[in-house]
Parts: sequence; structure tokens; C-alpha cells
Amino acid sequence: MTKRFGSFVAVNDVEFDVPRGKVFGFLGPNGSGKSTTIRMLAGLLVPSEGTAYGFDGLDVRHDAEAWKGRLGYMSQKFSLYLDLTVEENLRFFGTVYGLSSSRLEERIAAVSDRLLFRPLLGTLTESLSTGWRQRVALAAALLHEPELLFLDEPTGGVDPRGRRLFWDLIYELAAEKGMTVLVTTHYMDEAEQCDSLAFILNGDLIARGAPHELKRRLSGRLFEVPLEGEPFAALAAVQGSPELEDAYLFGLRLRALAEEGRVEDAVQRLAPLGSPALAEPSLEDVFVDLARDYSRSHRENAA
Ligand SMILES: Nc1ncnc2c1ncn2[C@@H]1O[C@H](COP(=O)(O)OP(=O)(O)OP(=O)(O)O)[C@@H](O)[C@H]1O
Ligand SMILES: [Mg+2]
Repeated sequence: MTKRFGSFVAVNDVEFDVPRGKVFGFLGPNGSGKSTTIRMLAGLLVPSEGTAYGFDGLDVRHDAEAWKGRLGYMSQKFSLYLDLTVEENLRFFGTVYGLSSSRLEERIAAVSDRLLFRPLLGTLTESLSTGWRQRVALAAALLHEPELLFLDEPTGGVDPRGRRLFWDLIYELAAEKGMTVLVTTHYMDEAEQCDSLAFILNGDLIARGAPHELKRRLSGRLFEVPLEGEPFAALAAVQGSPELEDAYLFGLRLRALAEEGRVEDAVQRLAPLGSPALAEPSLEDVFVDLARDYSRSHRENAA
């Protein structure tokens, strides 16, 4: 799918598939096109080109109503009515999803039990913490038992313990109900937990795969040196060396990525600082590297 706003291309010919029953992470910096892609996938925004297929043969552009009935969507700026109680909010969203009143009662009881906020049903939404509001917003998206759930930065502004609890729930829901989840996040520890990832930059999809597959691009090339002397002096001594694609401080250690095919030269360059040892790449290392390759190739194309 492609989405243009005037002459600006927000999403550029992006194509991926989301396996049923899996948790799929959609990553990228601010403004890279994640929310725009999700809004197209949720049937809320018409693509400039292309379409999405799913749910055993539906096409988002031709079967919009049936499509929307099978998904749940928690938007980045999830909108609950602060002047309504939790239960009134759920009732409102349930009616929007077209649930009958008996079904709605049943589902409100089920989701509030499942997400552990039944005692809060009578509370005014305004008085809830961000973490609880997020749970209620998630519950609203789950009322009609969707097969596919879109979560756009569901844990923004939530503390680490709240994020942990939220993710435990997401995983349980995916496992219990076989629900498919597409989630965007800026947190690499959350990305790490996804079954599969896609990384978007400037509207271009630049990488896809499971976390361990994406890390393979750095395997055997990332080194760590425990530092004894002054860290910034150590960094300055190796930064910009031709055999190193990158070098940065990581606490009191230096991390350096060898240029492809120049591992031995890189080790020699690092040796005076301490004992370089191969390091396990993090997803953050991978994305920094992907972004660097992307901007390199764009500079070359522009030149
Ligand atoms: N309706 C619109 N009209 C014009 N430009 C838009 C519109 N919606 C989004 N954009 C632009 O498209 C680009 C992608 O925006 P999008 O919201 O999809 O990014 P994002 O990856 O979700 O970013 P963030 O991580 O900050 O949420 C941005 O430059 C944004 O300003
Ligand atoms: Mg967004």
C-alpha cells in the first residue's frame, strides 16, 4: 500500500503479511508512517494505491464493513470519554460495534474480569491513572471479540511495571484466543517479545523478520571492549576508523561494529583499548545499523 498526502509520500509501497495468531511488531521512528499504515489496514483511511487482503478472502477496499467488524483498534491517542464512568465508556463502544444489549452485558463482565478492573466499572474515567485508562481502552477494543487487534503505541506513558502487565495480557490473549496482534512501539524490550517485526523508515519498509533473524545481520561483527581508562578518550581514539562501521559507549564499555569483511582489522584497531570480545547484538543495534545503511544508500542515490 502507498499513501500520499498531496505530494508527500507517507507510506511508500509497503508490503508485508501478518501471520494468524502471532504478535507482529511494527517499528520505526516518529513520523515514519506506522499509524498511517495501521489506519489503512483498519479500513479508516483509503490507500492511494494498493490494498490489504485478509480474513479468508476479504479486501479492505471492497469489503470495508465486514473487514472492520473483525478487527479491534486501539488508537495512539485512545479516546475514552473522561466524564463518563468506565462502564458507560464500554457501553458506548459496544453500541458502536453493534453488540446487542444482552451480549454487551456479558462482554463487559468478561473483559473487565479478564483485565482485572471490574471493581472500577463505576469509577469516573477521569480519575484513573494512564495505566488503567489504557486497560479500559484495550477492553473497549476487545468487546466484539476481534480476530485481529491493532494496538498503536499502547504503552506510551505507562511505567515499566504497567508495560510488563500490559504485555503479559497481550500474549495471553494471543495464546488463549488465537488472536492476531499488530502493535507499534518505540520500546525495544517490547519489540524483542514480538514473534515477527517490520521496520519502517521514511515510509519505506526496510526490514522484516523475527528478532533473532534481524540480529543475524550483525552476528560476528559486533564487539565489546571493557574500558579501564577514560571512556570518551577511548571512543575518540577509534571513532571514524575505516574498519569500524560504528563505535559508541555502552556504560563503561565500548561497542564497535566491524565493517563487513574487516573483522580482523577491527579487532586489531580495538585491541589497544582492552580485550575486544564478540557481543550479542540488541534490536537497537540492529535498527541503528539498518537506519545507517538506509541513509547511506539514499545519499548515494542522491549523489
Ligand atoms: N492526514 C494527514 N495529512 C498530512 N500528513 C499526514 C497526515 N497523517 C499523517 N501525515 C504525515 O505522514 C507522516 C507519517 O505519519 P504517521 O503518523 O503515520 O507516523 P508514525 O510512524 O505513526 O509516527 P509516531 O511514531 O510519531 O506516531 C508524518 O510526516 C505525518 O506528519
Ligand atoms: Mg503513530
